[in-house]
Amino acid sequence: MADITISGGKKISGSIKLSGAKNSILPILAATVLISGKSIIHNCPELSDVEAAVKILEHLGAIVITEQSTITVDCSNLKKYDIPDSLMREMRSSIVFLGAIAARMGKASISSPGGCELGPRPIDLHLSALADLGLKIEEEYGILNCSCGNELIGTDIQLSFPSVGATENVILAGVTAKGITVIHGAAREPEISDLADFLNRAGANIQGAGSDIITIYGTSALHSTEHTVIPDRIEAATYLAATAVTGGKITVLGAIPAHLTPVMSVLKSAGCELSVKHNEVSLIAPVKLKRVPVIRTMPHPGFPTDAGSPLMAMLTIADGSSMFVENIFENRFRIVDELKRFGAKIYTNGRVAVIEGVKALSGATVECTDLRGGAALVIAALAANGVTKISKIHHLDRGYAKLTENLRSLGAEIERS
Ligand code: EPZ
Repeated sequence: MADITISGGKKISGSIKLSGAKNSILPILAATVLISGKSIIHNCPELSDVEAAVKILEHLGAIVITEQSTITVDCSNLKKYDIPDSLMREMRSSIVFLGAIAARMGKASISSPGGCELGPRPIDLHLSALADLGLKIEEEYGILNCSCGNELIGTDIQLSFPSVGATENVILAGVTAKGITVIHGAAREPEISDLADFLNRAGANIQGAGSDIITIYGTSALHSTEHTVIPDRIEAATYLAATAVTGGKITVLGAIPAHLTPVMSVLKSAGCELSVKHNEVSLIAPVKLKRVPVIRTMPHPGFPTDAGSPLMAMLTIADGSSMFVENIFENRFRIVDELKRFGAKIYTNGRVAVIEGVKALSGATVECTDLRGGAALVIAALAANGVTKISKIHHLDRGYAKLTENLRSLGAEIERS
């Protein structure tokens, strides 16, 4: 198992080019199942989650060619409609393939995605919405056997929570359904809009993506298309926090500033100087970070839960105490015990975490508990005096492409072994 070793205390300074958004490419790869033709997707990030999604497509019968950051998917001749348990367990967000496979093949068979490091990760909102569209779902021994005959029927869907995945599943099932599907209480994340843009280029008719009411006018068939994935806003937040905690300065190239508003607001509150251009965000760190009294994670356009752990790590050396209220995932604070090994003072109670700023962190031996928790450990290690060894870095490989190379180019003393 690979490890990362970091000798902390070096300023992070320079510029990096963002990769494509993990949480955009994954539903877009699922969406290619709907297209009986070629989908050429640019700006794809090199991530293990992307590899897992490609394995699912190839299992179904798609031909997938990856050339640097362009993935070409040909779903002209799909043969299967199931996702093997092993592939479902490799990536729980594979549930987003369900709507697309059922819509294309008339049936789907997947194992219930287990929980993950962030908690049980229920799929009740997905299943009830797909059932409203006419998908018959039977669960037997942990396998969901689904069928919809030759079509799904558009209808009004009310999501009791703006679930990103459930919104994506309904969009994928509704695109070729008969009639009109209206999602009320839809998720508004930028990745939803990117998915809709991809599908509309392929001939779909989706209106309102990015708002809480999305209307999908059923289309008989989709055609080949080409698309460029939006930049990864959580990757951007991670590098900005890494720079802030080491007292450096950075320009994040290829960013969409509008996707980073809530994160930039917290960074400004912490005393960082931020400037934006059309497709870049620059940050100059203060000599000493200021506390941020309360940060509440919320569905977009609120502060993103995925940026919580990286910014928590940043605030461990702020002047004073900060508080996080995590409103999305119950296990988001799993990483706290590992952060304490650096000498951080963090107190959690349920979904509330109080971070009491300390003068300095010390290098430690730690292990990743989840993707964004792993990012928090890297950020703490960059700030810490001394050497840190981070294990279980397969979590990081799920969501951060070229992490070691990028940080080294920014001045970090980092090795992957
Ligand atoms: C997506 O997960 C992202 N993953 C997550 O990013 C992100 O944290 C999350 O949205 C919130 O923004 C991908 O896009 C691949 P949800 P998703 O459905 O779709 C509850 C990362 O680090 N819920 O919006 O699974 C759920 O338990 C990952 O990049 C139900 O109760 O998130 C959670 O509390 C982590 N029933 C809340 O809703 C359901 O049927 C938000 O989940 C579905 C969800």
